[in-house]
Amino acid sequence: MSRRPVNPARRFADGGSIPFVGSVQSKTRSSPFLSIGLLVVGAILLIGYLHYGSGGSTTVKEALSKVEGGSSCTLEVQRALPVLKKAYGDSMHKVLHVGPDTCSVVSKLLKEDDTQAWGVEPYDLDDADAGCKSLVHKGIVRVADIKFPLPYRAKSFSLVIVSDALDYLSPRYLNRTLPELARVSSDGVIIFSGYLGQQRAKVTELSKFGRPAKYRSSTWWIRYFVETKLEENEAAANKFEQASTKRSYKPACQVFHLRSLH
Ligand SMILES: *[C@@H]1O[C@H](CO)[C@@H](O)[C@H](O)[C@H]1NC(C)=O
Repeated sequence: MSRRPVNPARRFADGGSIPFVGSVQSKTRSSPFLSIGLLVVGAILLIGYLHYGSGGSTTVKEALSKVEGGSSCTLEVQRALPVLKKAYGDSMHKVLHVGPDTCSVVSKLLKEDDTQAWGVEPYDLDDADAGCKSLVHKGIVRVADIKFPLPYRAKSFSLVIVSDALDYLSPRYLNRTLPELARVSSDGVIIFSGYLGQQRAKVTELSKFGRPAKYRSSTWWIRYFVETKLEENEAAANKFEQASTKRSYKPACQVFHLRSLH
């Protein structure tokens, strides 16, 4: 049974296409609209298929939100949580996630035993659901511009996980933000960043983020870490690698492990 292609199409049709086409009925004018509708469905299916060719347990809702909201590496964080737990062990007890759609990661983390979680949402939360609004109300999730210092004391968290956020920062801001993430953590920073090849599929995000992501190669990142004197956490990287192999997990994003600032 192939759940990816079929369901989004049906949902799309139920949601808009059919009533609209019905209302203009047999007039010839309806056909361009119909073709555009079909094109959009096709594009959604194609993007969904390309993204999820290898994804195991991704639901249709996630697939759609990924296509529409474009938080691909934030989704990847959720997929990677069991592997991160294996690699980081006790360090996963107090986690800050930074990135779009942080409510989804924070809610998932909060369901784990012995895990406290907080989130920083770098973009506005206009379309937040009730659960997310409640997290904001409780102060667990904050909306904050990550170009500025984060409102937390040094070492407030054991781990900081960032996804889909650094890709949008120029080196000038990265120079401030990345050390900030290392400052507020005690046991490390984990970066989920898009691949160079992901550029085209992300065009839909432009309206939300205001600027295109600068997808950087791993060579770029590693040179950047060296230049800015941020140290890679090799022990954690090795454990992550081992846990990934064991669970046949292949990240759809680049994952880097950095040490916290002491
Ligand atoms: C960022 O920091 C590095 C290392 O301190 C420096 O070499 C580089 O010029 C800085 N980049 C910008 C754009 O400020």
